[in-house]
Amino acid sequence: MSATAAPRLQHAGTDWALRHMPLLTSTVRRHAAVLAGKRIAMCLHVEPKTAALVALLREAGAEVTLTGSPGTTQDDTADALRAVGTTVFGRRDDGLSEHRRNIDRVLGCDPHLILDNGGDLTVAALARGGLPHLIGGTEETTTGGLRLRALPAPPPFPVVVINDSRLKLLVENEHGVGQSVVQGFMNATNLMLPGARATVVGYGPCGLGTANTLARLGARVAVAETDPYRALEAVMHGHQVGDLATLLPRTRLLFLATGHPAVIGPDALDVLADGTIIAGVGHQPWELDADALAARTASVTRYGSAGDERAVHRLRDGREITVLTGTRMINLTAAKGNPIQAMDLGLTLQARSLAAVATLPLTPGVQPIPADVDREIATDLLGHLTA
Ligand SMILES: NC(=O)c1ccc[n+]([C@@H]2O[C@H](COP(=O)([O-])OP(=O)(O)OC[C@H]3O[C@@H](n4cnc5c(N)ncnc54)[C@H](O)[C@@H]3O)[C@@H](O)[C@H]2O)c1
Repeated sequence: MSATAAPRLQHAGTDWALRHMPLLTSTVRRHAAVLAGKRIAMCLHVEPKTAALVALLREAGAEVTLTGSPGTTQDDTADALRAVGTTVFGRRDDGLSEHRRNIDRVLGCDPHLILDNGGDLTVAALARGGLPHLIGGTEETTTGGLRLRALPAPPPFPVVVINDSRLKLLVENEHGVGQSVVQGFMNATNLMLPGARATVVGYGPCGLGTANTLARLGARVAVAETDPYRALEAVMHGHQVGDLATLLPRTRLLFLATGHPAVIGPDALDVLADGTIIAGVGHQPWELDADALAARTASVTRYGSAGDERAVHRLRDGREITVLTGTRMINLTAAKGNPIQAMDLGLTLQARSLAAVATLPLTPGVQPIPADVDREIATDLLGHLTA
């Protein structure tokens, strides 16, 4: 450990986050011996909770090279990390091609471990035919997990998918995402929720959390979900359930939480109610078919700055549709991301899984977090929450 050698990160947001991340702090310190000396290639939203993880890993003696996702990087956080010697690639207004270059630059650190978000680092590492010192890695998201599982051949090293954790789905996706997505929507629009008609597309843990938070604040919530079990769960939670053709003409607020591309395609666009406001929850800003919207748009009025914009599309048929922050995740673009305690857990699962990848004889391929590790963290978290 090099706790005394590493300069201390000077960043108020990160300091604040660290104060509320007891689980992550104790977990990284407990596994410092395994993490010391490891080069970690990391792709994670560059914001204070991530900086807190990086600071703890540095304290443990690991070397982190970091990039974020397009549109979610907080430049002040990135600069604070750079000031203490962490290599961070990327800035908030990077586009997709710059992001790809950043991914390649991160892999240039010759990592022992990869901590990934969306599968970009892992796919790029595989495209290079592997990396000489790579032991394995973790993947944060559902979207990344699906992407890696769909590869023609499984990775020849272990990749632990954090979102497969029952614990994470419950605490972070359901409760953390729900709260912060609604917070982001309110920040971006300054609109009132009670009485508003909202539709959430996709009732996985993220959609469920969003729908239930909206409902608790008085919105009239409907859900469109293709899986009958999850649709049934939405009914049991008191939401109206139907298909897009039925729900969209009566919706004003539309939240996209499927993780799948072009869910709002030409047919859905043609029945959207005049005045609909669309926000993204899913990892990729692709659930709204941007080409189909552009083809129907006569003019666009933009409010706000790059990365924080509200684009009001006047359609050729006279309807007005507003797209918030290009449907990038609204809780990251217009709020401070998931609540700190949710990320205390999520990042603890990440750090503990990296330690497991480095020490356990895990089989190669994409896999859930080992059940005993998940249970160990559940027990720790319960201890913290009930202390
Ligand atoms: N914003 C954030 O902070 C944050 C945090 C975690 C995960 N995510 C992302 O949010 C997305 C959802 O995550 P999840 O864990 O709830 O995923 P999930 O896969 O468990 O749930 C998605 C749901 O969408 C449904 N669906 C798919 N296509 C549909 C369609 N055309 N119409 C209606 N329903 C459809 C599926 O049946 C499924 O139930 C993913 O992209 C994930 O990476 C975002």
